[in-house]
Amino acid sequence: MSQDPLLDRWSAVDHYLGHLLLPSDPALDSAVAASDAAGLPAIQVSPLQGRLLAILVAAQGARRILEIGTLGGYSTIWLARALPPDGQVITLELNPTHAAVARANVVQAGLGDRVEVRVGPALDSLRALIAEGRGPFDFIFIDADKTGYPEYFALALRLSRRGTMIIADNVVRDGAVADPDSTDANVLAVRQLNDMMANEPRVTATVLQTVGVKGYDGFAVALVNS
Ligand code: SAH
Ligand code: DHB
Ligand code: MG
Repeated sequence: MSQDPLLDRWSAVDHYLGHLLLPSDPALDSAVAASDAAGLPAIQVSPLQGRLLAILVAAQGARRILEIGTLGGYSTIWLARALPPDGQVITLELNPTHAAVARANVVQAGLGDRVEVRVGPALDSLRALIAEGRGPFDFIFIDADKTGYPEYFALALRLSRRGTMIIADNVVRDGAVADPDSTDANVLAVRQLNDMMANEPRVTATVLQTVGVKGYDGFAVALVNS
């Protein structure tokens, strides 16, 4: 139980639905356990959110996925499993410890051949991917430092094609996103992302507010039209 009755209620529903809809999953469970043991923060997507990512990847028929913000590879495993056997995830992580834990978790999940973890600032890695002529990606999940979101979105567009789906996590921030007077750098950045999505003729975008074990937050969902 937390100190917050709303969070307890949202968590109870997440647990009920998670037990109902998601089979027990040793690879994901041990990825979380290994991440905890290595001292990584427990800020990965929730199990039901992981399933949503997998559903979107499968519906998309994605073969090439770009993830920005790997942590211990929990979301990476959900994404990679939803790919066909010849599909690939490139996932970008600043912290070498996080990247090493993620690599081990991905290998342990039997997905080592489908996942490439690139270590370094995501901005540098994105520029390198563009310079290497990589992409277009079919599906892009943005989930690293929030202040980077505007630049990540701009570079993600350069790595996209017509039909690419771009998802960004943590864009509602306990509702603070609606405060035009916020001085919080994370809120300012997600508001800038929202402005970019609103003004970018290449995308059709929405934002879904979410509640659950991670509290009150949301996902931006953008489809690239051209
Ligand atoms: N997608 C993960 C959670 C990512 S948490 C999951 O759901 O399982 C955010 C991650 O972004 C952290 O591991 C953090 O180290 C990383 N990060 C922070 N700043 C970054 C940067 N500039 N470039 C790349 N990764 C960054
Ligand atoms: C937090 C949650 C996230 O999903 C994330 O990507 C980064 C931080 C958090 O709760 O602090
Ligand atoms: Mg997140």
